[in-house]
Parts: sequence; structure tokens; C-alpha cells
Amino acid sequence: ITVYSLIVKNMKCIIAAGGLGTRLQNFRDNKSTKILLEVNGAPMINHQIKQLNNWGFENFIIITNPEYSDLIQEVVKKAHSEFHIEFSVQDKPRGISHALQQAEHIVNNEKLFFVLGDNFFEKNPLEGFDLDEFKEGAYIFTKSVDNPKEFGVAQMDEGGNVISIEEKPEMPKSNNAVVGAYMFDESVFEKISTLQPSKRDEYEITDLCNLYVNNEKCKNFSIDGWWIDAGTPERIIELEEKLG
Ligand code: DAU
Repeated sequence: ITVYSLIVKNMKCIIAAGGLGTRLQNFRDNKSTKILLEVNGAPMINHQIKQLNNWGFENFIIITNPEYSDLIQEVVKKAHSEFHIEFSVQDKPRGISHALQQAEHIVNNEKLFFVLGDNFFEKNPLEGFDLDEFKEGAYIFTKSVDNPKEFGVAQMDEGGNVISIEEKPEMPKSNNAVVGAYMFDESVFEKISTLQPSKRDEYEITDLCNLYVNNEKCKNFSIDGWWIDAGTPERIIELEEKLG
């Protein structure tokens, strides 16, 4: 047993599985929600839990939308009765930071790992990450891409400190896309409570990370291997090929 596996085993992992997945409506007759879409014959949420458990997590909080909350619980409990899994409903898709906020009443004063339900990785992004050294602040994980405009985009200094993050910028300042995995310290919910809705009327994950950036407490970890944000039909097909 390593320090890494011990810390991860006890850390709560929050999965954002709310939202509507509008870009996937009607794909393969999908009338439900993205997270229940079948990927190689199993609902996306179950692939996600499997992925996170491969990285060592056993404690999950899944944020769902109200419409599919019962169905998601049923599907998950059937496949993964061995883990400690709790659920919390997000009344409306008011943004990714708002989704995270729905876990506040379940967690204690502790560090958290937060994952977007539709993000999949070839390798554990936490590999090589010294969890024991993580005392405060936030960590984002980035990957160099050729279409940064479609994501949060981060700019770093030479020390790996994040100096800015912009959500889907017209003129990206770098090619570093922020992937959907985040490590936050105990101050995260206090920070979320100070956020204002963005122009598109969402509590943005990028705005939350920028509160850490402003305090010079946001670091970057560049990841290796493929990464898929499975939010469109093309990327679902790509994901199926990669998962094999
Ligand atoms: O995939 C990485 C990107 O994810 C980041 O680079 C961006 O900074 C971040 O904003 C996000 O962008 P997306 O456009 O991909 O986010 P999307 O609206 O697809 O939401 C991602 C997941 O979060 C989705 O699978 C469902 C969940 N979600 C989303 C919203 C808006 C919720 O649970 N509740 C919500 O209100």
C-alpha cells in the first residue's frame, strides 16, 4: 500500500453528471441524458466509475439532474454495489460550479477530487502527482490540443503556476486545454458561494478556478495520453474505439 493509494481511497470523488447533453439529443435515439448513453454496451456513468476506481477511488458523490436521478441511481447501484456512492440532485443545469456545490452538504472539511462525467483518459492524471504534498489551493490538469477554443484554456508561468484561465476564448492564449478533472482544497465551497453567473448565465468552473489563480494558489499538471470530452456524437464513437 502506497501513500497515494491510501489518500485516494479515502478521498471523496465528485462526479458532475447533471446537465442535459443537448449536443447528444437524438443521437442513437437518445431521449435521456448523456451520462446514461450506452458506450460499448454500458452506460457512460458506469464506465466513469470504473475509470475512477482504476485510479484508486472508492468513495463517490454523483450529481444528477432531477429528471434522471432515479434511473441513474438504479443503473449505478446495480453495477457498483461494492463502493460507497452517494447522490445529490442539481435542480437546474446552472453550471459546473453549481453542480459541485450540490455536494457541499455531504462532504466534510476535506480536499476533493472533482470530475466531469463525460471526461475519459488513457492514463491516470494523478499518476506522478504527489498527493501528500497537496496542502492547499487547487490543481488543474491540462493537455495540449489543436482546438483550444472549445475548452477552458490555461496559461502558465515556468513554475507550473496558472496565471489565467479563459472559458472557450475566441483568441486562445495557449493550446493548453483544461481537462475535466480538478483537485480542490477545503475552501472550495466558500469560494463557490461568492461566484456570479457568467454571460451565458452559468456558474462556471473556470471562474471558480480563477479565484484560486487570483490568490496564486492554482497549479497545473500536464497530462499524458489521450483525453476525450465525450460531449458530441463523434467523440462518443472515438471513445468507444479507445476503450476497445
Ligand atoms: O471537458 C473539459 C471542459 O469542460 C473544460 O475545458 C471547460 O472549461 C468546462 O467548462 C467544460 O466545458 P464543456 O462545454 O465540455 O461542459 P459541459 O456543459 O459539457 O459540462 C460538462 C459535464 O458537466 C457534463 O457532462 C454534465 C456536467 N454538468 C454540466 C452543467 C452545465 C452538470 O452536472 N451540471 C451543469 O449545470
